[in-house]
Amino acid sequence: MTGRAVVKGIGHYLPERIVPNAEFEATLDTTDEWIRTRSGIERRHFAAEGETTSDLASNAARAALADAGLEPDDIDAIIVATSTADLTFPSAATMVQSKIGMTRGFAFDVQAVCAGFVYALCNANALILSGQAKRVLVIGAETFSRIMDWSDRATCVLFGDGAGALVLEYQDESGTNADRGILSVDLNSDGRFKDLLYVDGGVSTQTTGQLRMQGNQVFRHAVEKLTNAAETALEKAGLENKDVDWIVPHQANIRIIQGTAKKMGLPMENVVVTVQDHGNTSAASIPLAMSVGKARGQIKQGDLIVTEAIGGGLAWGAVVLRW
Ligand code: UT7
Repeated sequence: MTGRAVVKGIGHYLPERIVPNAEFEATLDTTDEWIRTRSGIERRHFAAEGETTSDLASNAARAALADAGLEPDDIDAIIVATSTADLTFPSAATMVQSKIGMTRGFAFDVQAVCAGFVYALCNANALILSGQAKRVLVIGAETFSRIMDWSDRATCVLFGDGAGALVLEYQDESGTNADRGILSVDLNSDGRFKDLLYVDGGVSTQTTGQLRMQGNQVFRHAVEKLTNAAETALEKAGLENKDVDWIVPHQANIRIIQGTAKKMGLPMENVVVTVQDHGNTSAASIPLAMSVGKARGQIKQGDLIVTEAIGGGLAWGAVVLRW
């Protein structure tokens, strides 16, 4: 017998306001056509004034708890993956803890930008396998609209706001790769590339800052690093690309998603794609895609999933899990 961190419930939340590409045409030298063909994005959601990351995260958390049939106090730990917490401190996770009415356990944030949810899943897995928590609420939540430079057409048309949440629970399994739950993980970062994607402000500089990205440079790294991480994670689990039912990729650009699937020798029929509706929601993109993929009837119990992401740092990684 082996312990595994198994998905017990999932949910997501998107802010009400939907912004189609055409809205940017009024203020920027851009077109719906350019945004669609270069990124695959058609629309994105933006948080309302006063609506914060922990609000989005709490709504997603409530949906995941309802899906799992659990109450807040059934949870032992909350991990929020975010780069856009409400305040410098306390963590967005403790704010979620308070907002959903959870009065026990512990909560903290993980910051690995777009790879944040993959990092958070690995942390939750470690807490569960080491016996420190039986149930962990893993959330990816972002309000990237708050760190956009609205005059930079190369970045502000790409990002959106949203949140997704997953409940992981300890379960005894057989110890083979036919088990449900997280089967393997692969995390990487390389700080030599820190200038390719960053926010030019922060606490130490007493500013909030705005996102800066050399998009085509990040693009060059993405397909190779994502494929390597996904294949390394599969190898660690003793599995092959052909065993994968669903790739659930970070939703940054349809061309990166297609390139990675192609390099892995998998058709797009095996990929959950939501980038057209959400844009790039950074750490929220994977749990959002998982939740939508399940709601669409794509992801079913027993399916083998590889999820992968890359972002600022550069930081990237992959997780293999059986739903
Ligand atoms: O989630 C974290 C990780 N981030 C990513 O994965 C993002 C990775 N990068 C990308 O997705 C793509 O590089 C972008 C979508 C950001 C850009 O696509 P690209 O094909 O790499 O275009 P580019 O940056 O090389 O720009 C091509 C042209 C440039 O004009 P010139 O220099 O050829 O005259 C840009 O100025 O497109 C121009 N451009 C635009 N034109 C119309 C840049 N943004 C826009 C725009 N509308 N919004």
